[in-house]
Amino acid sequence: YLIGIDVGTSATKTVLFDEKGGVIASASREYPLYQPKNGWAEQKPEDWRDTVLDTLSQVMKESGVLKEDVKGIGISGQMHGLVMLDEKNEVIRPSIIWCDQRTAAEVEDMLTIMPKERWIEITANPPLTGWTAAKILWVRKNEPENYDRCRHILLPKDYIRYILTGVFATEVSDASGMQLLDVPGRCWSEEVLNKLDINPKLLGEVFESCEVTGTLLPEIAERTGLSEETKVVGGAGDNAAAAVGTGVVKDGTAFTTIGTSGVVFAHSSQVTIDPKGRVHTCCCAVPGAWHVMGVTQGAGLSLKWFKDNFCQDYVEEANKQGIDVYDLINRDVSQVEAGSDKLIYLPYLMGERTPHLDPDCRGVFFGLSAIHTRKHMLRAVMEGVSYSLSDCNDILNEMGIQVGEMMACGGGGKSPVWRQMLADMYDCHVKTVAQTEGPALGAAILAGVGCGIYESVEAACDALISADKSTGPEENQAGLYKKYHQLYKELYEDLKGSYK
Ligand code: XUL
Repeated sequence: YLIGIDVGTSATKTVLFDEKGGVIASASREYPLYQPKNGWAEQKPEDWRDTVLDTLSQVMKESGVLKEDVKGIGISGQMHGLVMLDEKNEVIRPSIIWCDQRTAAEVEDMLTIMPKERWIEITANPPLTGWTAAKILWVRKNEPENYDRCRHILLPKDYIRYILTGVFATEVSDASGMQLLDVPGRCWSEEVLNKLDINPKLLGEVFESCEVTGTLLPEIAERTGLSEETKVVGGAGDNAAAAVGTGVVKDGTAFTTIGTSGVVFAHSSQVTIDPKGRVHTCCCAVPGAWHVMGVTQGAGLSLKWFKDNFCQDYVEEANKQGIDVYDLINRDVSQVEAGSDKLIYLPYLMGERTPHLDPDCRGVFFGLSAIHTRKHMLRAVMEGVSYSLSDCNDILNEMGIQVGEMMACGGGGKSPVWRQMLADMYDCHVKTVAQTEGPALGAAILAGVGCGIYESVEAACDALISADKSTGPEENQAGLYKKYHQLYKELYEDLKGSYK
């Protein structure tokens, strides 16, 4: 057996798999997102820790599996978040997470320290507000007492690794998103650390995603019902792990995930870089390979925000019927015609990365009329997120990345209406795999490779992952969406000066 853990933005999910990728037990627990100011986003690493330990205990208890039969654990998690520990290895402040946009000034500073071209040469990306380096500089400037106390800098899932094994380490896919890694060389960049004056001792050792990084601490094994022999491998950032979990491990394959963020991700056996920096290039979980991904900040976040604020009656109805509230939302959305009667939504609730790299922009409903209902607004939200994902896909196409297969995953990828929108806008088939656990399965596969159960990541994906549904573009929709996508793009251009 193998365990995959995914420390997401809305919840931690822990899944126990058999060696054929079958789900034996699964548990998940939610936690809050704190937004102390407009554009800021923080979470408590202690919430991640508690939910990981609770869900591990739960899957072990519910499955009845013997502890010595669980060979390995892989951890995946939200990328870029900054966790700082003091000399007692206690958390110093809440984690500033991936969608936080407070670091515009630090990105400017980074560009005066080193030219953009050199940043791209080393880290494969220009300085970005959401990435970890800028967050470290923010804490150093704004909370010097916290920075002085800091002895360890970790990413969210690597904090969990420390809790489980006592080891301070990371792996190449997630470390790529810190902006401190030499991405082509897959190691820390001395030049970047020198230029930023960050002590390399603050960072853990960098592993490949399927390498073993440690075994469980005795007290953790005891608390969760696991064995001290259970190995914990590098794991991966959530997107690199989702790639493994959907079989996107070869050139020509790609996926779109709609979680809190939205990502269009393509595998690449070469370091492929957008010179304009609109999409990210990172190491992927397959040793010796990379990926390119466009990221939209407010994907599932937009729909969840709308549901939480304007659909309380649905939440109650869904609870009463024992169904998922998003099923009710999907039912509504499918009753509205494509284009939402010219109601356009820009999903920039937390600023935007691809294609604008703009921390200041915010969400918009444009074209509201008295004929519009809540159903139109829900559809407009899903269409707006899809336009944003199309922006990501267009850039990958522009870069010459050939995508023969587009998989869909994440909570939003389960929605047939949302997949139809993507198929119509991308003008290609959008597919799902039968194994729906995405990042948790990917992390478990990495653990299986590390423990010698599978020969390689690619071989495991070939053996375990199978195709499920395929959604093709509908006739007559592409033209309408193209027209509204153009309007969507013009709206950003017209409004961008008004956000500051
Ligand atoms: C990727 C990104 C998000 C997070 C949260 O660059 O910031 O996808 O990993 O899921």
